[in-house]
Amino acid sequence: MTKLLNGNQLATEIRKEISNEIEKNFIKKNRKVPHLGIILTGTNKSSIRYVNNKLKECKNIGIKSSLVHLPEKCLEDRLLKEIHNMNNNPLIDGFIVQLPLEKHINQDKIILSINPKKDVDGFHPENFGKMSLNMKSFFPATALGILTLLERNRIEISGKHTVVIGRSRIVGFPISILMGRKMNFGNSTVTLTHSYTPNIENYTKNADIIIVSVGIPKFIKGKMIKKGSVIIDVGINTSKIDENKILGDVDFHSVYGKASYLTPVPGGVGPMTRVMLLKNTLIAALNNNEN
Ligand code: GUN
Repeated sequence: MTKLLNGNQLATEIRKEISNEIEKNFIKKNRKVPHLGIILTGTNKSSIRYVNNKLKECKNIGIKSSLVHLPEKCLEDRLLKEIHNMNNNPLIDGFIVQLPLEKHINQDKIILSINPKKDVDGFHPENFGKMSLNMKSFFPATALGILTLLERNRIEISGKHTVVIGRSRIVGFPISILMGRKMNFGNSTVTLTHSYTPNIENYTKNADIIIVSVGIPKFIKGKMIKKGSVIIDVGINTSKIDENKILGDVDFHSVYGKASYLTPVPGGVGPMTRVMLLKNTLIAALNNNEN
């Protein structure tokens, strides 16, 4: 029997928790509500869709949001100026620069220019380093969403072998760190695999938990997994046949029945990612009120 991990349902629960916190800590105390800034560049359809979803989520939960949309050909200096404005705007609690950026823009330079205290994506090296060392920081939303989905469904990860496929800074690399931390919810033995790993199935067949984020539809097939394993599908691939259809990195039908737990696409990791950005924004606003 395979149990589907319902990200929509859990995200709704967490949204309620965030909403209660906003009511208690901001509205009842007559404080300004948390405020998220988003900088979007260019016309990438997926990025526009993600950003619109983030804005909608903010509105529904009572978080204020401000969008700066820059043209595709905008210069790095223009983007740096907008980041400087967000860093110095006391009304903005946290902000993100939607990735990917155009090729002519140096992504590392952009991420380094974000004030780590406002870096609700958790991509700045200061936050990434603190996360690796078990220090308080912002965690990247998708990685935090996966960890929360496992924890709230009481899936044991301690002592289990987790195989992560893909080492992006958005998903694979941070989740490989979070799963293996010496923490209450951690202590997994993690293997981080990627495009240079030969015979990936040698790893996946021995995994208790597989977290796949490679951007290849149906990459993980039933024959590549161990019976009873937990499969977390982070893929968001647009179908070539129907551009409104989203496909995961897992071949759902061949894995269903063999895995013990499986995240559907859509409705698994995606909603968890969106809600974790709201949670990070709430934390940034709470931190601001402490200082
Ligand atoms: N592009 C895809 N996922 C993300 C994300 O979590 N944050 C940002 N900033 N860009 C993304």
